[in-house]
Amino acid sequence: MQIYFHGHSCFEIVGKAGRLIIDPFLTGNPSAIAKPEDFTQLDAILVTHGHSDHLGDAIQLSKQTGAPIVAVFELAAYCESQGAKTHAMHIGGKYQFPFGTVKLTQALHGSGVEKPEGGPLIYVGPPCGFLIKFEEKWLYHAGDTGLFGDMELLGRRHPLTVAMLPIGDNYVMGVEEAVQAAQLLRPKLVIPMHYNTFPLIVQDVGEFGRLMQRRAPESRVDALQPGEMFELL
Ligand code: NI
Ligand code: MN
Repeated sequence: MQIYFHGHSCFEIVGKAGRLIIDPFLTGNPSAIAKPEDFTQLDAILVTHGHSDHLGDAIQLSKQTGAPIVAVFELAAYCESQGAKTHAMHIGGKYQFPFGTVKLTQALHGSGVEKPEGGPLIYVGPPCGFLIKFEEKWLYHAGDTGLFGDMELLGRRHPLTVAMLPIGDNYVMGVEEAVQAAQLLRPKLVIPMHYNTFPLIVQDVGEFGRLMQRRAPESRVDALQPGEMFELL
């Protein structure tokens, strides 16, 4: 399978089983190279929460490809009200799609959709992370989250090939917490995300790599640049 990084927290997973996109924040994402128009075929659009840097172009992509948005029930209901196709789930539940299995995990964060006119956000349920079994490998996209001890349980129950972990701090885990997360999850590969997109979340990814080498040496780090792809054999 191929794992493409489209900047911020947006990943595209491609293989014989299908094509998924996670948190498709493309329009307005200063680090994204891909545009929503580039996606003509998708099997699912996974969205971790309602914040604009994650929901992004999901509704347009669903309309344009016919792919369902996979999200927690409340966010799915919002997307459906905007004309998207959806598959609602909730935390702790899994579902076997034709392309593979998706299971929702907790994430320690908020979740709301901004109204065009401003003011309080529309609350769209809790945020989540995704465990995805794709071509017999478990991938974990943590979403926006702080560190939590049950990551150890997630890693034990689902031996992880890849973990996509936020390192940007301020809104989510910082570098030190993400290293601790990797110690708990024990994935073969860590791909850092949710950093350097905006000045507030600039991080030294080299320092993350060095700390990982020292404290979690059994996990490799691949800091993909936006537009780059990792081929998983
Ligand atoms: Ni967020
Ligand atoms: Mn975010």
